[in-house]
Amino acid sequence: MPTDRPYDLVLFGATGFTGGLTAEYLARHAPDRLRWALAGRNPAKLAAVRERLAAIDPGLAELPLLTADVTDPASLRAVAESARVVATTVGPYVHHGEPLVAACAAAGTDYVDITGESEFVDLMYVRHHAEAVRTGARLVHACGFDSIPHDLGAWYTVKQLPADGPVTVDGYVRAGGRFSAGTYHSALTAFARTGEMSRAARARRAVEPRPDGRRVRAVPGRVGRVREFGQWAAPLPTIDPQIVRRSAAARPEYGPDFRYRHFAAMKRLPTVLVSGVGLAAVVGLVKVPPTRRWLLGRLASGQGPSAEQRAKSWFRVRFVGAGGGRRVVTEVAGGDPGYDETAKMLAESALCLAFDDLPETAGQLTPVAAMGDALLERLVRAGITFRTLTA
Ligand SMILES: NC(=O)c1ccc[n+]([C@@H]2O[C@H](COP(=O)([O-])OP(=O)(O)OC[C@H]3O[C@@H](n4cnc5c(N)ncnc54)[C@H](OP(=O)(O)O)[C@@H]3O)[C@@H](O)[C@H]2O)c1
Repeated sequence: MPTDRPYDLVLFGATGFTGGLTAEYLARHAPDRLRWALAGRNPAKLAAVRERLAAIDPGLAELPLLTADVTDPASLRAVAESARVVATTVGPYVHHGEPLVAACAAAGTDYVDITGESEFVDLMYVRHHAEAVRTGARLVHACGFDSIPHDLGAWYTVKQLPADGPVTVDGYVRAGGRFSAGTYHSALTAFARTGEMSRAARARRAVEPRPDGRRVRAVPGRVGRVREFGQWAAPLPTIDPQIVRRSAAARPEYGPDFRYRHFAAMKRLPTVLVSGVGLAAVVGLVKVPPTRRWLLGRLASGQGPSAEQRAKSWFRVRFVGAGGGRRVVTEVAGGDPGYDETAKMLAESALCLAFDDLPETAGQLTPVAAMGDALLERLVRAGITFRTLTA
């Protein structure tokens, strides 16, 4: 990683809802030696964020501000060339994300984001993975609630099972919380682009090598009752199972034959059914341009849940792992998944890439493949629970 750059970390999108929380997290928790800067397209908004940070730590009153816009490639090149790591919260990523990935891949700069958009991640693999391998850049997507708890939780579970035979892991997500405008816009954008999503996945499959002599799969499960903790579960087709599968492809610890399934867990069967019907209705509505425009207009950029609402939010992901005749149930849990914990996960991922002793890797990587235990230990120190319920 280049060491002769002015900044260890540049945070792009600091003027947005999640970017602002990430900046505040860094102001409270980053080590004193961190050399960092905020980047965004609007200098006045950036200065207002810096004032908020100076109220937390007066030493940040002169924090450097970099003006950069995703429509201006030279401004992104300047950001990428000034930093060892760039963290970005500028989404929807499928609309705004690629120019920064391209700039970081070209400059050999590590990159982290909080996308949950599989179309974007697949396209970035097809278009920028090879260049990042050449320059040594680590491109790590999905470093927020999508997909850190699931990726690191499956990793934590697998490490408790023998790796010399088939291993299966099922993940069950429960969460309570509200959405920001950015999440709402990105989710509606993804629902409207299922055709593009499938095309990007096919393009990736055509060029991505398969793991040598090993089998790794993420397969959809069925609606049913989970015997281990007496709840109902329905398959959850987020990006998370794809990330877990790619981690399994990258690391031998998942064994010669690994299978992952991903579910939403709910207390009552009717909730499962109503949620499924509700989701199908929204997916149908966003495919029609006038209703999509109406839905997108409901929330303005920068809006998100209040501190009081976030304080009541929570997540809990349980994993049931099996292999070599052993069965283990684990749990990853924390507070507000979408924002407070996502800001923490993004900031800790960026600090991990900047400062920790990590395996030599490059190109597009999952959080586990790039950071594994180093990130897990950071998150535990930062208050996210990883524990084994039964072994
Ligand atoms: N994975 C997860 O769990 C998770 C959790 C939370 C959020 N997210 C994702 O994170 C993203 C941000 O969410 P949010 O709620 O923070 O959104 P937001 O408040 O709308 O913030 C969007 C940010 O993007 C910036 N931006 C927009 N267009 C730009 C351009 N042309 N050049 C430079 N910057 C530009 C905005 O700058 P201005 O302030 O100048 O408009 C703002 O800083 C979304 O994609 C969301 O889905 C993911």
